[in-house]
Amino acid sequence: MALAIILALVLYLSCQIEAQLLVGFYNGSCPMAESIIREEVRKAFFKDKGIAPGLLRAHFHDCMVRGCDGSLLIDSVPPNKAEKDGAPNGITLRGLEVVDCAKDRLEKECKGAVSCADILAYAARDSVVITGGRYWDVPAGRRDGRISRAAETIDIPAPFQNLDEITAAFAKKNLSQDEMIALSGAHTIGRSHCTSFSNRLYNFSPANSQDPSLDRLFAAQLKQQCPLNPRGNVDPYLVVSMNMSPGHFENSYYRDILAHRVVFTSDQTLVTSPESLSEVEDYAFNEQEWQNDFVDAMIKMSQIEVLTGTAGEIRSNCRVINP
Ligand code: HEM
Repeated sequence: MALAIILALVLYLSCQIEAQLLVGFYNGSCPMAESIIREEVRKAFFKDKGIAPGLLRAHFHDCMVRGCDGSLLIDSVPPNKAEKDGAPNGITLRGLEVVDCAKDRLEKECKGAVSCADILAYAARDSVVITGGRYWDVPAGRRDGRISRAAETIDIPAPFQNLDEITAAFAKKNLSQDEMIALSGAHTIGRSHCTSFSNRLYNFSPANSQDPSLDRLFAAQLKQQCPLNPRGNVDPYLVVSMNMSPGHFENSYYRDILAHRVVFTSDQTLVTSPESLSEVEDYAFNEQEWQNDFVDAMIKMSQIEVLTGTAGEIRSNCRVINP
């Protein structure tokens, strides 16, 4: 009896170990993996600075749906509408071609070794570093999922949501409100389509067409960048920078929140409870504290519901499930 319990415990523990990701996972099977990915990110970044925020966001969106399993990268094949064509993704995604380029090279270098999910996790880290954020070692060994459904992108938080709603979306993935606030600092880089926040400018509520929590001058500037067309809509392709320094990974995002100069309700809502306000204030004036908390939260986020061991597969083309 005692032996059976010990055996069950050993089996349980070995499964636990198998479920863990490892720093340096490819040291044996594909030693060049990390440097190839870094090189592809750098090459693409020098042509288009937008790929860094694009890849960071793509990793987040991948992790929020079925875990960090590369399911965001799969193309739709009728009748299946894949995640990348879900409402929060579509035309707002960018940078995914960098994953394809890295994958092509990795397949030549060490066929079938490196997962698409890991490529995206490394590329997200490299994107933070290349824009001025802190470096961290990425635990790896994720495997690729074989399912990608647009309908499941409902798990990705939306820009019009309030503090309770976004906190709940992160809690569903085992991330705390503190971690959510640290991760939201990613909005220090990149851009937004006007349509992601135009409700705050033109049809906020029956009482206020413009969101009263928006700084008036900032709102006027956004209206100029995102005008209504003659049909009363905002052009779906118009974009604005997230802030004054959209290429620099720094804590100005939190000062922008305090000044009511952020584009999304989901950003501004971070000051609506005493606890969340105090964290925003800390990060606004303590760059190092935020950078450290951001990295810790990223390491946790990028391990959401990962597939490891023999689960899933290593896709040979990140856009297509293996036959
Ligand atoms: C708190 C909940 C969040 C909401 C509601 C949210 C929503 C959005 C929206 C609506 C956009 C603009 C997309 C567009 O219109 O082009 C955006 C951009 C972005 N988000 Fe988030 N986001 C959240 C959290 C995060 C997290 C946790 C990360 C990464 C760790 C992240 C990284 C980014 C980046 C880098 C961009 C810029 C993308 C680009 O320039 O292409 N976001 N987010």
